[in-house]
Amino acid sequence: MSDLRSAQWYGGQDRDAYIHRAWMRRGAPDSAFTGRPQIAIANTASDLVPCNRHLSEVAEHVAAGIWEAGGVPLDMPVVSLGETQVRPTAMLWRNMAAMAIEEMIRANPIDGVVLLGGCDKTIPALLMGAASVDLPAVVVPGGPMLTGTFRGVPLGCGTDVWRLSEDVRAGKLSEQEFLQSESSMIRSRGHCNTMGTASTMGLLAEVLGTTLPGTAGLPAPDSRLLGQAHGTGVLAVEMAREGRRPSQVLTAASFRNAIVALAAIGGSTNAVVHLLAIAGRLGIPLSLDDFDRIGANVPLLVNLQPAGQHLMEDFHRAGGLLAVLHEVEDLLDPAALTVTGRPLVHYLAGAAIWDADVIRSRREPLQDAAGIAVLRGNLAPSGAIIKPAAASPHLLQHRGRAVVFDSVEDLHARLDDPDLDVDADSVLVLRGCGPRGYPGMPEVSNTPLPAKLLREGVRDMVRICDGRMSGTAYGTVVLHVTPEGAAGGPLSKIRTGDWIVLDVPGRRVDVELTEDELRDRPVARAMAAAVAQPRRGWELLYVNSVQGAETGADLDFLCGSSGDQVNRESH
Ligand code: FES
Repeated sequence: MSDLRSAQWYGGQDRDAYIHRAWMRRGAPDSAFTGRPQIAIANTASDLVPCNRHLSEVAEHVAAGIWEAGGVPLDMPVVSLGETQVRPTAMLWRNMAAMAIEEMIRANPIDGVVLLGGCDKTIPALLMGAASVDLPAVVVPGGPMLTGTFRGVPLGCGTDVWRLSEDVRAGKLSEQEFLQSESSMIRSRGHCNTMGTASTMGLLAEVLGTTLPGTAGLPAPDSRLLGQAHGTGVLAVEMAREGRRPSQVLTAASFRNAIVALAAIGGSTNAVVHLLAIAGRLGIPLSLDDFDRIGANVPLLVNLQPAGQHLMEDFHRAGGLLAVLHEVEDLLDPAALTVTGRPLVHYLAGAAIWDADVIRSRREPLQDAAGIAVLRGNLAPSGAIIKPAAASPHLLQHRGRAVVFDSVEDLHARLDDPDLDVDADSVLVLRGCGPRGYPGMPEVSNTPLPAKLLREGVRDMVRICDGRMSGTAYGTVVLHVTPEGAAGGPLSKIRTGDWIVLDVPGRRVDVELTEDELRDRPVARAMAAAVAQPRRGWELLYVNSVQGAETGADLDFLCGSSGDQVNRESH
């Protein structure tokens, strides 16, 4: 009998093997069940996930590659998440998607899996699930959309929605003009074209070693993506035959490389929770502080929105990910392997920058030190993060009076009240938005600014929140504050009028209260009343088991590996 895992289902002459083969024949030759790797294509295509709709075409090319290499392709639709569509936030469902993907990979007669993702949470969920099962797995990122333009000017998805809507609130743009831009925002198939979370996680999937090198960042409509999809199918068969598993690729070295790349590309803050969660599935001791220690002094080389000007189509034209990695090769761990069995650095020879305005050389970076900064202090004893590259330099050291909001609804109700006691030096605090509190840790930390200040020309203020921020957003935002307000963290106790001190170079965020004062203060009643109290279903499971953002906001019982063994038959 073949030593492929699928032979546990299809090998032999007994009744069980008969049943497994008979229902799967569908015109397949006998050879489909004898020694040919069964490769699932975990496909997150869905009409409700516009960024991933095209993945079924990508899957056809993966399948062609699998057949060519002697394997058997099996389409496996999996839970998908449309960032702009699902409520209350796609992050609530990331762990559910990861759990479903993990269970379906393990339960089925497969020897390997090709993971097709794109929109923000889909690649993290696919990698989390696949890492836990540890069957051979390779990612095809669906790629960014092409650049749309409005009135001759490029539009960055997400980033320009925030910018244009703030212009409306500031009285600089009419509502009608704002709405005219809507049909220009999404020009083609693919995910958001800024260096948001989808672009970041697609690129980091390649840095982690989980893609066929040269795939990530290819625009979704680019025919070369389909060529890479074909090559990935061929590779998946090879990986299954050789037993090349995620645990051989996703190592401490590959996560160190991902942190370096995250800084160099100016990637999304959301990568922090996703990388921590993926590492947690493999028992790799990655910590929040590793992001600061490894990445803080890495230069920003990529001039893409939201930290810069250009968009993903420009990035690819300028040389793409491999050109960036070539510039920081001395900071990469040469031991980190890819799914091909070769090290990542092997693929950097010959990589070049073709447009130095989009991808800067190491000698002329956009910023000298661009990584995520990890803050601690009496306001965030377990840590918080800020992306200095997207912040205003003059606010990185700041003392201001807190203006506190107990929920997103409270923020929306009061932010534009002309009587709100707020000025440009105030610190806007939003709480109750962590994993447990909302629930799901939504992207609300980059709160809008009060309209009256926007009209005065204010474009950034210090904001502090226990939620996340869209990877397409910008501003001086302290986010992922832990412990979160709903877990009784200090954020739940501060009041409007308290003085807050932000010191990013010193890595501190504090409220000017003594230890005794903070301890004796009660949790704000209005925040506690606004915190979610689910009674059933996934939300209940989630709030009872979700961990803090400082470890990746995974469910406690999903951390670690499950393996690929299933010991009981179904009949
Ligand atoms: Fe899907 Fe932005 S909405 S990547």
